Amino acid sequence: MSSLANKRVLLGVSGGIAAYKAAELVRLLRAAGAEVQVVMTRGATRFITPLTLQALSGRPVREALFDEAAEAGGMDHISLARWADVLLVAPATADLLARLAQGRADDLLTTLCLASRAPLLLAPAMNVAMWDHPATRANVALLESRGVALLGPAEGELACGEAGAGRMLEPAELLAALEGRFRRGSLDGCRVLVTAGPTREPLDPVRYLGNRSSGRMGYAVAEAAALAGARVTLVSGPVALACPPGVERVVVETAAEMHAAVMARAGDCDIFIAAAAVADYRPQAAAAQKIKKSAPRLTLDLVRNPDILADVARLPRPPFTVGFAAETDDLERHARAKRMAKGVDMIAANRVGPGLGFDTEDNELLLIREGGSERLPRAPKTRLARQLIESIAAAWRARREPAATGDDHAQGTA
Ligand code: CTP
Repeated sequence: MSSLANKRVLLGVSGGIAAYKAAELVRLLRAAGAEVQVVMTRGATRFITPLTLQALSGRPVREALFDEAAEAGGMDHISLARWADVLLVAPATADLLARLAQGRADDLLTTLCLASRAPLLLAPAMNVAMWDHPATRANVALLESRGVALLGPAEGELACGEAGAGRMLEPAELLAALEGRFRRGSLDGCRVLVTAGPTREPLDPVRYLGNRSSGRMGYAVAEAAALAGARVTLVSGPVALACPPGVERVVVETAAEMHAAVMARAGDCDIFIAAAAVADYRPQAAAAQKIKKSAPRLTLDLVRNPDILADVARLPRPPFTVGFAAETDDLERHARAKRMAKGVDMIAANRVGPGLGFDTEDNELLLIREGGSERLPRAPKTRLARQLIESIAAAWRARREPAATGDDHAQGTA
Protein backbone atom coordinates (compact mmCIF):
# COMPACT_ATOMS: atom_id res chain seq x y z
CA MET A 1 0.00 0.00 0.00
CA SER A 2 1.25 3.48 -0.83
CA SER A 3 2.23 5.72 2.08
CA LEU A 4 -0.11 8.28 0.49
CA ALA A 5 -3.23 6.20 1.16
CA ASN A 6 -5.91 8.45 2.74
CA LYS A 7 -3.50 11.40 2.84
CA ARG A 8 -4.96 14.79 1.96
CA VAL A 9 -2.93 16.45 -0.75
CA LEU A 10 -3.59 20.07 -1.66
CA LEU A 11 -2.20 20.36 -5.18
CA GLY A 12 -1.50 23.91 -6.33
CA VAL A 13 -1.13 24.50 -10.06
CA SER A 14 0.34 27.78 -11.29
CA GLY A 15 0.49 29.16 -14.80
CA GLY A 16 3.23 27.52 -16.83
CA ILE A 17 3.25 25.16 -19.79
CA ALA A 18 4.09 22.25 -17.42
CA ALA A 19 0.57 22.70 -15.96
CA TYR A 20 -0.62 20.05 -18.41
CA LYS A 21 1.40 17.49 -16.42
CA ALA A 22 -0.79 18.21 -13.39
CA ALA A 23 -3.46 15.99 -14.95
CA GLU A 24 -1.20 12.93 -14.85
CA LEU A 25 -0.03 13.86 -11.34
CA VAL A 26 -3.62 14.00 -10.05
CA ARG A 27 -4.31 10.62 -11.65
CA LEU A 28 -1.23 9.06 -9.97
CA LEU A 29 -2.05 10.61 -6.59
CA ARG A 30 -5.60 9.26 -6.73
CA ALA A 31 -4.34 5.83 -7.78
CA ALA A 32 -2.05 5.88 -4.70
CA GLY A 33 -5.12 6.41 -2.52
CA ALA A 34 -4.68 10.12 -1.74
CA GLU A 35 -7.50 12.66 -1.56
CA VAL A 36 -6.61 15.50 -3.87
CA GLN A 37 -7.92 19.06 -3.78
CA VAL A 38 -6.69 21.09 -6.74
CA VAL A 39 -6.21 24.86 -6.39
CA MET A 40 -5.32 26.74 -9.58
CA THR A 41 -4.00 30.23 -10.11
CA ARG A 42 -5.72 32.35 -12.74
CA GLY A 43 -2.74 31.83 -15.06
CA ALA A 44 -2.95 28.05 -14.73
CA THR A 45 -6.49 28.01 -16.10
CA ARG A 46 -5.07 29.36 -19.39
CA PHE A 47 -2.97 26.20 -19.77
CA ILE A 48 -5.32 23.45 -18.58
CA THR A 49 -9.03 23.57 -17.88
CA PRO A 50 -10.33 23.24 -14.31
CA LEU A 51 -12.86 20.74 -15.66
CA THR A 52 -10.07 18.28 -16.55
CA LEU A 53 -8.58 18.43 -13.05
CA GLN A 54 -12.02 18.33 -11.45
CA ALA A 55 -12.89 15.14 -13.33
CA LEU A 56 -9.59 13.49 -12.36
CA SER A 57 -9.56 14.61 -8.71
CA GLY A 58 -13.26 14.04 -8.10
CA ARG A 59 -13.56 17.42 -6.37
CA PRO A 60 -14.46 20.88 -7.62
CA VAL A 61 -11.29 22.80 -8.42
CA ARG A 62 -10.80 25.98 -6.36
CA GLU A 63 -9.49 29.15 -7.90
CA ALA A 64 -11.05 32.28 -6.42
CA LEU A 65 -10.04 33.69 -3.07
CA PHE A 66 -13.53 34.98 -2.47
CA ASP A 67 -15.68 32.00 -3.42
CA GLU A 68 -19.01 32.59 -1.71
CA ALA A 69 -20.42 29.12 -2.34
CA ALA A 70 -17.31 27.36 -0.97
CA GLU A 71 -17.03 29.69 2.02
CA ALA A 72 -20.69 29.10 2.86
CA GLY A 73 -20.26 25.33 2.39
CA GLY A 74 -17.74 25.12 5.25
CA MET A 75 -14.66 24.94 3.05
CA ASP A 76 -13.42 28.49 3.52
CA HIS A 77 -9.73 29.12 2.91
CA ILE A 78 -8.72 28.53 6.54
CA SER A 79 -10.59 25.19 6.70
CA LEU A 80 -8.96 24.18 3.44
CA ALA A 81 -5.51 25.13 4.81
CA ARG A 82 -6.17 22.98 7.90
CA TRP A 83 -7.58 20.10 5.81
CA ALA A 84 -4.29 19.49 3.97
CA ASP A 85 -1.66 17.00 5.19
CA VAL A 86 0.75 18.37 2.60
CA LEU A 87 0.81 21.18 0.03
CA LEU A 88 2.46 20.52 -3.32
CA VAL A 89 2.66 23.21 -6.00
CA ALA A 90 3.41 21.74 -9.42
CA PRO A 91 4.34 23.56 -11.52
CA ALA A 92 5.62 26.44 -9.39
CA THR A 93 6.42 29.40 -11.66
CA ALA A 94 9.07 32.07 -11.00
CA ASP A 95 6.26 34.47 -10.11
CA LEU A 96 4.78 32.05 -7.62
CA LEU A 97 8.19 31.52 -5.95
CA ALA A 98 8.57 35.31 -5.68
CA ARG A 99 5.12 35.75 -4.17
CA LEU A 100 5.68 32.93 -1.66
CA ALA A 101 9.12 34.30 -0.72
CA GLN A 102 7.48 37.64 0.04
CA GLY A 103 4.72 36.00 2.05
CA ARG A 104 2.02 37.48 -0.16
CA ALA A 105 -1.59 36.31 0.00
CA ASP A 106 -3.00 37.86 -3.15
CA ASP A 107 -4.81 34.81 -4.49
CA LEU A 108 -6.24 31.61 -3.03
CA LEU A 109 -3.11 29.48 -3.58
CA THR A 110 -0.65 31.87 -1.90
CA THR A 111 -3.16 32.48 0.91
CA LEU A 112 -3.38 28.73 1.56
CA CYS A 113 0.43 28.39 1.53
CA LEU A 114 0.58 31.09 4.20
CA ALA A 115 -2.34 29.81 6.26
CA SER A 116 -1.37 26.13 6.36
CA ARG A 117 1.02 24.53 8.86
CA ALA A 118 1.41 21.45 6.62
CA PRO A 119 4.74 20.91 4.81
CA LEU A 120 5.05 22.87 1.57
CA LEU A 121 6.73 21.28 -1.45
CA LEU A 122 7.39 23.16 -4.68
CA ALA A 123 8.15 21.72 -8.11
CA PRO A 124 9.56 24.67 -10.07
CA ALA A 125 9.22 24.91 -13.84
CA MET A 126 10.49 27.83 -15.89
CA ASN A 127 12.90 29.02 -18.52
CA VAL A 128 16.58 28.42 -17.59
CA ALA A 129 17.46 32.13 -17.54
CA MET A 130 14.57 32.79 -15.15
CA TRP A 131 15.71 29.92 -12.91
CA ASP A 132 19.31 31.21 -12.93
CA HIS A 133 18.34 34.85 -12.32
CA PRO A 134 19.69 36.21 -9.02
CA ALA A 135 16.16 37.23 -8.02
CA THR A 136 14.92 33.63 -8.34
CA ARG A 137 18.07 32.28 -6.66
CA ALA A 138 17.46 34.61 -3.69
CA ASN A 139 13.77 33.65 -3.50
CA VAL A 140 14.66 29.94 -3.54
CA ALA A 141 17.31 30.39 -0.82
CA LEU A 142 14.83 32.29 1.35
CA LEU A 143 12.11 29.67 0.90
CA GLU A 144 14.55 26.83 1.64
CA SER A 145 15.78 28.56 4.79
CA ARG A 146 12.14 28.48 5.99
CA GLY A 147 11.97 24.71 5.50
CA VAL A 148 10.13 24.71 2.15
CA ALA A 149 11.20 21.69 0.07
CA LEU A 150 12.13 22.24 -3.57
CA LEU A 151 11.62 19.21 -5.83
CA GLY A 152 13.74 19.77 -8.92
CA PRO A 153 13.79 21.34 -11.42
CA ALA A 154 15.44 18.83 -13.73
CA GLU A 155 17.86 19.70 -16.51
CA GLY A 156 16.96 19.06 -20.11
CA GLU A 157 15.08 20.38 -23.12
CA LEU A 158 12.71 23.18 -22.13
CA ALA A 159 9.44 24.10 -23.80
CA CYS A 160 10.95 27.47 -24.78
CA GLY A 161 13.50 25.70 -27.01
CA GLU A 162 16.48 26.26 -24.69
CA ALA A 163 18.20 23.53 -22.67
CA GLY A 164 19.23 23.63 -19.01
CA ALA A 165 17.74 23.57 -15.51
CA GLY A 166 14.06 24.49 -15.40
CA ARG A 167 12.10 21.41 -16.44
CA MET A 168 9.48 20.25 -13.95
CA LEU A 169 10.09 16.79 -12.50
CA GLU A 170 7.94 14.11 -14.10
CA PRO A 171 4.66 13.29 -12.29
CA ALA A 172 6.02 9.84 -11.31
CA GLU A 173 9.09 11.47 -9.73
CA LEU A 174 6.91 13.92 -7.81
CA LEU A 175 4.74 11.06 -6.60
CA ALA A 176 7.84 9.17 -5.36
CA ALA A 177 9.09 12.28 -3.52
CA LEU A 178 5.72 12.75 -1.85
CA GLU A 179 5.52 9.07 -0.89
CA GLY A 180 9.00 9.40 0.64
CA ARG A 181 7.71 12.17 2.93
CA PHE A 182 4.97 9.96 4.35
CA ARG A 183 6.96 6.75 4.75
CA ARG A 184 7.56 6.01 8.40
CA GLY A 185 11.20 6.59 9.21
CA SER A 186 13.41 5.69 12.17
CA LEU A 187 13.19 9.29 13.45
CA ASP A 188 9.50 9.93 12.82
CA GLY A 189 8.24 12.76 15.01
CA CYS A 190 11.70 13.36 16.48
CA ARG A 191 13.23 16.86 16.68
CA VAL A 192 16.88 16.99 15.69
CA LEU A 193 19.28 19.92 16.04
CA VAL A 194 22.52 19.80 14.01
CA THR A 195 25.53 22.13 13.88
CA ALA A 196 27.68 22.21 10.75
CA GLY A 197 30.48 24.05 9.00
CA PRO A 198 33.26 26.22 10.37
CA THR A 199 33.02 29.30 12.55
CA ARG A 200 34.74 32.59 11.77
CA GLU A 201 36.31 34.59 14.58
CA PRO A 202 36.85 38.21 13.52
CA LEU A 203 40.30 39.79 13.93
CA ASP A 204 39.28 43.14 12.48
CA PRO A 205 36.54 44.31 10.09
CA VAL A 206 38.07 42.42 7.13
CA ARG A 207 39.90 39.39 8.59
CA TYR A 208 38.96 36.35 10.59
CA LEU A 209 40.38 33.12 12.02
CA GLY A 210 38.68 30.15 10.38
CA ASN A 211 39.18 26.54 9.37
CA ARG A 212 38.77 24.30 6.34
CA SER A 213 35.50 22.61 7.27
CA SER A 214 33.26 22.41 4.18
CA GLY A 215 30.13 21.58 6.21
CA ARG A 216 29.44 18.57 3.96
CA MET A 217 29.24 15.98 6.73
CA GLY A 218 26.92 18.09 8.90
CA TYR A 219 24.67 18.92 5.94
CA ALA A 220 24.54 15.24 4.94
CA VAL A 221 23.60 14.34 8.53
CA ALA A 222 20.84 16.99 8.58
CA GLU A 223 19.47 15.71 5.27
CA ALA A 224 19.61 12.06 6.41
CA ALA A 225 17.75 12.95 9.63
CA ALA A 226 15.04 14.75 7.64
CA LEU A 227 14.72 11.75 5.30
CA ALA A 228 14.33 9.53 8.39
CA GLY A 229 11.28 11.60 9.36
CA ALA A 230 12.79 14.06 11.85
CA ARG A 231 12.02 17.76 12.10
CA VAL A 232 15.50 19.18 11.61
CA THR A 233 17.05 22.52 12.46
CA LEU A 234 20.55 23.14 11.10
CA VAL A 235 22.70 25.80 12.76
CA SER A 236 25.37 26.44 10.16
CA GLY A 237 28.55 28.42 9.94
CA PRO A 238 29.40 30.02 6.58
CA VAL A 239 29.53 27.35 3.84
CA ALA A 240 28.87 27.13 0.11
CA LEU A 241 26.12 24.49 0.39
CA ALA A 242 22.38 24.67 -0.30
CA CYS A 243 20.04 24.00 2.61
CA PRO A 244 18.83 20.35 2.42
CA PRO A 245 15.13 19.98 1.48
CA GLY A 246 12.72 20.27 4.37
CA VAL A 247 15.40 21.43 6.84
CA GLU A 248 15.17 24.76 8.71
CA ARG A 249 18.51 26.57 8.59
CA VAL A 250 19.91 29.23 10.91
CA VAL A 251 23.10 30.81 9.57
CA VAL A 252 25.68 32.10 12.06
CA GLU A 253 29.27 33.26 11.86
CA THR A 254 31.10 33.09 15.19
CA ALA A 255 31.28 30.37 17.84
CA ALA A 256 29.47 32.69 20.27
CA GLU A 257 26.61 33.13 17.77
CA MET A 258 26.46 29.37 17.18
CA HIS A 259 26.43 28.78 20.95
CA ALA A 260 23.53 31.22 21.41
CA ALA A 261 21.54 29.77 18.48
CA VAL A 262 22.00 26.22 19.80
CA MET A 263 21.28 26.98 23.48
CA ALA A 264 18.05 28.76 22.48
CA ARG A 265 16.84 25.55 20.79
CA ALA A 266 18.54 22.64 22.61
CA GLY A 267 15.84 22.36 25.30
CA ASP A 268 13.26 21.62 22.61
CA CYS A 269 15.10 18.88 20.73
CA ASP A 270 15.36 15.11 21.19
CA ILE A 271 18.74 14.65 19.52
CA PHE A 272 21.64 17.11 19.23
CA ILE A 273 24.38 16.35 16.69
CA ALA A 274 27.45 18.63 16.85
CA ALA A 275 29.16 18.32 13.47
CA ALA A 276 30.50 21.89 13.32
CA ALA A 277 34.21 22.60 13.44
CA VAL A 278 33.91 25.25 16.13
CA ALA A 279 36.93 27.47 16.70
CA ASP A 280 38.26 26.63 20.17
CA TYR A 281 39.65 30.17 20.60
CA ARG A 282 38.75 33.67 19.42
CA PRO A 283 40.68 36.95 19.46
CA GLN A 284 40.10 38.61 22.81
CA ALA A 285 38.67 41.63 21.01
CA ALA A 286 38.25 42.26 17.29
CA ALA A 287 40.05 45.48 16.27
CA ALA A 288 37.61 48.23 15.35
CA GLN A 289 39.78 49.28 12.41
CA LYS A 290 41.76 47.22 9.91
CA ILE A 291 45.06 46.13 11.49
CA LYS A 292 47.93 47.85 9.63
CA LYS A 293 51.20 46.05 8.87
CA SER A 294 53.33 48.63 10.71
CA ALA A 295 54.89 46.50 13.46
CA PRO A 296 57.44 43.76 12.51
CA ARG A 297 55.61 41.24 14.75
CA LEU A 298 52.00 40.80 15.68
CA THR A 299 50.87 38.77 18.68
CA LEU A 300 47.25 37.69 18.92
CA ASP A 301 45.68 37.31 22.32
CA LEU A 302 43.17 34.45 22.10
CA VAL A 303 40.54 33.44 24.62
CA ARG A 304 38.58 30.16 24.89
CA ASN A 305 35.22 29.84 23.19
CA PRO A 306 32.36 28.08 24.98
CA ASP A 307 32.14 24.35 24.23
CA ILE A 308 28.70 24.06 22.65
CA LEU A 309 28.49 20.27 22.80
CA ALA A 310 29.59 20.08 26.44
CA ASP A 311 27.14 22.85 27.41
CA VAL A 312 24.22 21.00 25.77
CA ALA A 313 25.26 17.74 27.48
CA ARG A 314 25.27 19.59 30.84
CA LEU A 315 21.66 20.78 30.52
CA PRO A 316 19.39 19.46 33.31
CA ARG A 317 17.37 17.45 30.76
CA PRO A 318 19.79 17.04 27.88
CA PRO A 319 18.80 15.65 24.48
CA PHE A 320 20.62 12.57 23.16
CA THR A 321 23.97 14.16 22.33
CA VAL A 322 26.34 13.17 19.53
CA GLY A 323 29.75 14.75 19.00
CA PHE A 324 32.38 14.34 16.34
CA ALA A 325 36.06 13.86 17.07
CA ALA A 326 38.65 14.53 14.42
CA GLU A 327 41.95 12.94 15.39
CA THR A 328 45.26 12.42 13.63
CA ASP A 329 46.38 9.52 15.88
CA ASP A 330 45.18 6.98 18.44
CA LEU A 331 41.58 7.43 17.25
CA GLU A 332 39.78 5.12 19.68
CA ARG A 333 41.58 6.23 22.86
CA HIS A 334 41.15 9.96 22.13
CA ALA A 335 37.50 9.45 21.13
CA ARG A 336 36.69 7.54 24.35
CA ALA A 337 38.40 10.23 26.41
CA LYS A 338 36.45 12.96 24.55
CA ARG A 339 33.13 11.19 25.15
CA MET A 340 33.79 11.02 28.88
CA ALA A 341 35.20 14.56 29.12
CA LYS A 342 32.23 16.14 27.37
CA GLY A 343 29.66 13.81 28.95
CA VAL A 344 28.01 12.96 25.61
CA ASP A 345 26.07 9.86 24.58
CA MET A 346 27.95 9.10 21.37
CA ILE A 347 31.15 10.20 19.64
CA ALA A 348 31.58 9.74 15.90
CA ALA A 349 35.33 9.68 15.47
CA ASN A 350 37.20 10.07 12.22
CA ARG A 351 40.80 10.20 11.26
CA VAL A 352 41.98 13.43 9.68
CA GLY A 353 45.03 13.67 7.55
CA PRO A 354 45.97 13.48 3.87
CA GLY A 355 42.92 12.41 1.81
CA LEU A 356 40.57 11.97 4.78
CA GLY A 357 38.33 14.27 6.77
CA PHE A 358 37.99 17.92 5.79
CA ASP A 359 37.10 18.91 2.25
CA THR A 360 36.76 15.35 0.94
CA GLU A 361 33.75 13.46 -0.46
CA ASP A 362 34.46 10.28 1.53
CA ASN A 363 34.85 9.62 5.21
CA GLU A 364 34.87 6.72 7.67
CA LEU A 365 33.64 6.73 11.25
CA LEU A 366 34.15 4.87 14.51
CA LEU A 367 31.10 5.25 16.75
CA ILE A 368 31.82 5.15 20.47
CA ARG A 369 28.99 4.94 22.98
CA GLU A 370 28.54 3.59 26.47
CA GLY A 371 29.39 -0.09 26.43
CA GLY A 372 30.19 -0.48 22.76
CA SER A 373 31.62 0.70 19.50
CA GLU A 374 30.70 0.32 15.82
CA ARG A 375 32.78 0.88 12.70
CA LEU A 376 31.21 2.53 9.63
CA PRO A 377 33.62 1.82 6.76
CA ARG A 378 34.81 4.38 4.22
CA ALA A 379 31.93 5.65 2.06
CA PRO A 380 30.63 8.85 0.46
CA LYS A 381 29.52 11.29 3.17
CA THR A 382 25.84 11.07 2.15
CA ARG A 383 25.75 7.26 2.57
CA LEU A 384 27.78 7.44 5.77
CA ALA A 385 25.38 10.06 7.15
CA ARG A 386 22.40 7.76 6.54
CA GLN A 387 24.14 4.91 8.39
CA LEU A 388 25.11 7.25 11.21
CA ILE A 389 21.50 8.43 11.56
CA GLU A 390 20.28 4.81 11.77
CA SER A 391 22.82 4.07 14.54
CA ILE A 392 21.87 7.25 16.39
CA ALA A 393 18.15 6.43 16.04
CA ALA A 394 18.70 2.93 17.48
CA ALA A 395 20.78 4.25 20.41
CA TRP A 396 18.31 7.07 21.09
CA ARG A 397 15.38 4.63 21.18
CA ALA A 398 17.32 2.26 23.46
CA ARG A 399 17.93 5.13 25.91
CA ARG A 400 14.30 6.27 25.73
CA GLU A 401 12.58 2.92 26.08
CA PRO A 402 13.55 2.10 29.69
CA ALA A 403 12.03 5.47 30.64
CA ALA A 404 8.83 4.60 28.80
CA THR A 405 8.48 1.35 30.79
CA GLY A 406 9.37 3.01 34.08
CA ASP A 407 12.64 1.03 34.46
CA ASP A 408 14.76 4.11 35.05
CA HIS A 409 12.51 5.11 37.94
CA ALA A 410 12.97 1.66 39.43
CA GLN A 411 16.74 2.00 39.10
CA GLY A 412 16.62 5.49 40.61
CA THR A 413 14.89 4.31 43.77
CA ALA A 414 16.71 0.98 44.18
N1 CTP B 1 32.57 21.35 19.72
C1 CTP B 1 31.63 22.27 20.14
N2 CTP B 1 32.03 23.50 20.61
C2 CTP B 1 33.35 23.82 20.67
C3 CTP B 1 34.32 22.89 20.24
C4 CTP B 1 33.91 21.66 19.77
O1 CTP B 1 30.44 21.99 20.09
N3 CTP B 1 33.70 24.99 21.13
C5 CTP B 1 32.13 20.03 19.26
C6 CTP B 1 32.39 19.76 17.82
O2 CTP B 1 31.28 20.12 17.02
C7 CTP B 1 32.62 18.26 17.83
C8 CTP B 1 33.22 17.96 19.18
O3 CTP B 1 32.88 19.09 19.97
O4 CTP B 1 31.40 17.56 17.80
C9 CTP B 1 34.70 17.70 19.19
O5 CTP B 1 35.43 18.80 18.84
P1 CTP B 1 37.04 18.80 18.72
O6 CTP B 1 37.41 20.14 18.24
O7 CTP B 1 37.48 17.61 17.95
O8 CTP B 1 37.48 18.52 20.17
P2 CTP B 1 38.00 19.47 21.26
O9 CTP B 1 37.11 19.29 22.42
O10 CTP B 1 38.12 20.85 20.73
O11 CTP B 1 39.41 18.85 21.62
P3 CTP B 1 40.81 18.89 20.85
O12 CTP B 1 40.74 20.06 19.88
O13 CTP B 1 41.76 19.08 21.93
O14 CTP B 1 40.91 17.58 20.15
